[in-house]
Formats: sequence, C-alpha cells, structure tokens
Amino acid sequence: MKTILITGASSGFGLETARHFLAKGWTVVATMRRPDAEVLPRSGNLRIIPLDVTSTDSIAAAVAAAGPIDLLVNNAGVGTVGAFEATPMDHVRKLFDTNTFGVMAMCQAVIPQMRERGSGVIVNVTSTVTLADMPLTAAYTASKQAITGFTGAIAHELATFNIRVKLVEPGYSPTTRFTQNAGLPVADLIPPAYADFAGPIFKAFASPALTTRETDVAEAVWHAAHDLSERLHFPAGADAVALYHTRATKS
Ligand SMILES: NC(=O)c1ccc[n+]([C@@H]2O[C@H](COP(=O)([O-])OP(=O)(O)OC[C@H]3O[C@@H](n4cnc5c(N)ncnc54)[C@H](OP(=O)(O)O)[C@@H]3O)[C@@H](O)[C@H]2O)c1
Repeated sequence: MKTILITGASSGFGLETARHFLAKGWTVVATMRRPDAEVLPRSGNLRIIPLDVTSTDSIAAAVAAAGPIDLLVNNAGVGTVGAFEATPMDHVRKLFDTNTFGVMAMCQAVIPQMRERGSGVIVNVTSTVTLADMPLTAAYTASKQAITGFTGAIAHELATFNIRVKLVEPGYSPTTRFTQNAGLPVADLIPPAYADFAGPIFKAFASPALTTRETDVAEAVWHAAHDLSERLHFPAGADAVALYHTRATKS
C-alpha cells in the first residue's frame, strides 16, 4: 500500500486530498499544526501527525514518525491580499517561511529516502497567480512563483533517481479557510490612495465567473501523482483550467 504525507491537512484542499487518498485505499499521513482527529473519517489507514513546516525540529520529527513516504504533497500555505507598499516586510517573510522555505525544507527532508529507494513523487501546490499576474497579491505571488521555478529545476535533477516532481495550480476557492487564515485584514493593507483601484478588483473577487472546489484539487493531486510523463503543470479547478488554456493559446 502506498503512503502519502500531506502538509496543512486540517482544512481546505489538504483535508480533501487526505479524504480522497483514504477513499482510494492509500495510507494517509495527514499533518496539521494542531492535530484534530475529528476532521477526517476514522480509518486504520490514517495517521495524524503534528507538523509546522516553518520549524526544522517539527519537520524532522514528523518525517521520522511518518516512516517511508511515497508521495509528499506540499499543500500548507498562507495568503495575503493588499497593496505591496502597505504589506509589512515581517508579513512578507512569514509568507515566504511557509509557502516557499517550508516547501523547500520538506523536500530536503524527504528526498533522501526517495532517492535511496529509487522512487517517489512530490507534488507542490502553488496557485494560478503563477500563471497570470494578479494585482494586490505581489508578496503571495512571489512566494508561490519561487516554487514554480524550484519545482521545475528539481524535477530535472530528481528524475535521475526516478523521483517525479509536479505542480498543482488551484484557482480561486472561496470555500476553504484561506481568506480567514490570511493573518492581516485586507482593509489594513489598502491605503486610501489605492481605494479606487482596489474597489473594482474586490468587486470582481466577490462574484467570480468560475471557481475551484476542494475536490478539484484533490483530483488534480491524484492525477499529478500518477502521471508518468514529464508534464509539470496541473491546473486545478474550472477557472484554473480555463486560464491555463488561454495562456497556452497566447504563447
Ligand atoms: N483558496 C484559494 O483560493 C487558493 C487558491 C490557490 C492556491 N491556494 C493554495 O492552496 C493551499 C491550501 O490552501 P486552502 O485554500 O486549502 O486554505 P486553508 O483552508 O487555509 O488551508 C491551508 C492549510 O495550511 C496550513 N498551514 C498554514 N501554515 C502552516 C504551517 N506553518 N505549517 C503547517 N501547516 C500550515 C493550515 O493549517 P492551520 O489549520 O494550522 O492554520 C491549513 O491546514 C495553500 O498552499 C494555498 O496557497 C489556495
């Protein structure tokens, strides 16, 4: 039986990915900053392990407790929306600590065992902000865009060891806890000088034509994990797929 370790499995895409792989008969190591057994169905194939991806000690303990991992899904992430000039640098660093360095540190912790076994898959969850520039998301986009470049580069070097590395790029999903988890209220990050510019953008955010469901991301992770080709990008959700194809047509 194959084992998946998912970061940030307490809610949203990570939680749904845990449910999806459990239903498919995988052994699931669902990691959470504050473990909560109630969010997932009881199963002999499920383990819930504490993990904060910004802590070296927490990563080492979680990877040791997990045992052999066939599939690592780097899903944990935090967002922020606001004018860049108003986004405190401490907050920018916080985004990078989780979205960028957290992913890199998890890869470094898991790659050695995959390399020694000569097999494994890593799926990094980024966002459609990496496919098309979106205003008022500069810090978040930068933190995710770094992982796009990182993933493409390690995909080449790890292919030598039969380790596949993929990107899952979800679109906008208003139903996860992402907005509540942003850390800083949007209102604090929109100075009066930006109000006229930001107004129509927030209006558009409030009624998107297409969105992404949690199940879209779980299915995209499943698909990416089983893809044996050199394909790197897996958009997830109707809006993401539409954007991906528009972009492909233009280039
Ligand atoms: N929702 C969207 O519109 C959207 C769109 C594109 C991409 N994404 C990306 O999709 C991923 C999942 O987001 P989501 O929408 O499902 O949001 P979510 O419901 O807020 O889930 C994010 C998860 O990450 C965890 N997390 C945050 N910081 C962590 C840390 N330092 N260590 C370990 N876990 C941490 C959270 O855990 P706690 O419960 O402990 O806070 C939570 O389980 C993120 O990488 C996000 O950037 C989201």
